[in-house]
Amino acid sequence: MPKSLISIRDFSKDEILHVLEIAKEFEQNHEQNFLAGKVIACLFFEPSTRTRLSFEAAVNRLGARVIGFPDSRNTSVSKGETLEDTIKIVSNYVDMIVMRHPVEGAAAIAAGVSPVPVVNAGDGSNQHPTQTLLDMYSILQTQGTLDGLTINMVGDLKYGRTVHSLSEAMSDFDSHFVFTAPDELKMPQKYLDLLDRKHIPYEQTSSIEDHLNDCDILYMTRVQQERFPCKEDYDRVKDIYELTASMLGGVKKNMKILHPLPRVTEIATDVDSTPYAYYFEQARNGMYIRMAVISYLLGYR
Ligand code: CP
Repeated sequence: MPKSLISIRDFSKDEILHVLEIAKEFEQNHEQNFLAGKVIACLFFEPSTRTRLSFEAAVNRLGARVIGFPDSRNTSVSKGETLEDTIKIVSNYVDMIVMRHPVEGAAAIAAGVSPVPVVNAGDGSNQHPTQTLLDMYSILQTQGTLDGLTINMVGDLKYGRTVHSLSEAMSDFDSHFVFTAPDELKMPQKYLDLLDRKHIPYEQTSSIEDHLNDCDILYMTRVQQERFPCKEDYDRVKDIYELTASMLGGVKKNMKILHPLPRVTEIATDVDSTPYAYYFEQARNGMYIRMAVISYLLGYR
């Protein structure tokens, strides 16, 4: 089986640091051509703007070509073809598969039948490992270190796959976590258990004010409407937090606001012009990270 990236745990700490180094190289020079002749599939069974387009841009900037779909309704999935069969077929044509799917565990199923590397571009509320790598790259770029930081994750910590992957990865870097969420959207116990096993300190609160002024990274997230069992449950919590510029008067000077995006109402647009907003640069970093992941998994770095 080729090496795939399904969970952030598929990369060791050293591999993560290596990928961040490669991304730095590509940020400095993102016109590369060493994957000419390679073909990479981007299969998106669930909507995406950043992940799909930054992967496609990364493939193009590396000199490879991309095939795939942004919506599976026009594929033979609509005739009842299974995910396993779809992956077996597509893997005949390409050197790597990037896949987003609404079902938790779908990327692992794909990797289990694929003779080419599979990269998980998000599987349900489970994991989004390339988002984690670009989040870590953004933390490193803004803080100058990954070690010893206080990371305050705010919003939908139950369904938000990006906070699951990121808390796992940052637990190797002497982090202190704050989990800010209403009871309905708290961090799942399995991620808290992991932190407990590693003796990583964390606090839980439902008030965004509690740790606004003592965190280095404020990681805002959208309430994931598409994962809720019913609209009434979503409506109860959808506007639970709204960060505005007027709330940032006492924050640490180095503090940066990250958000995997898209945002809805959780960050007011008046925050965008403050020195703390970093979410648009964060999204740009995704292209360098995805160039790095592709190059590493194909054995070119
Ligand atoms: N952050 C992220 O995964 O965004 P998209 O859903 O637009 O890909």
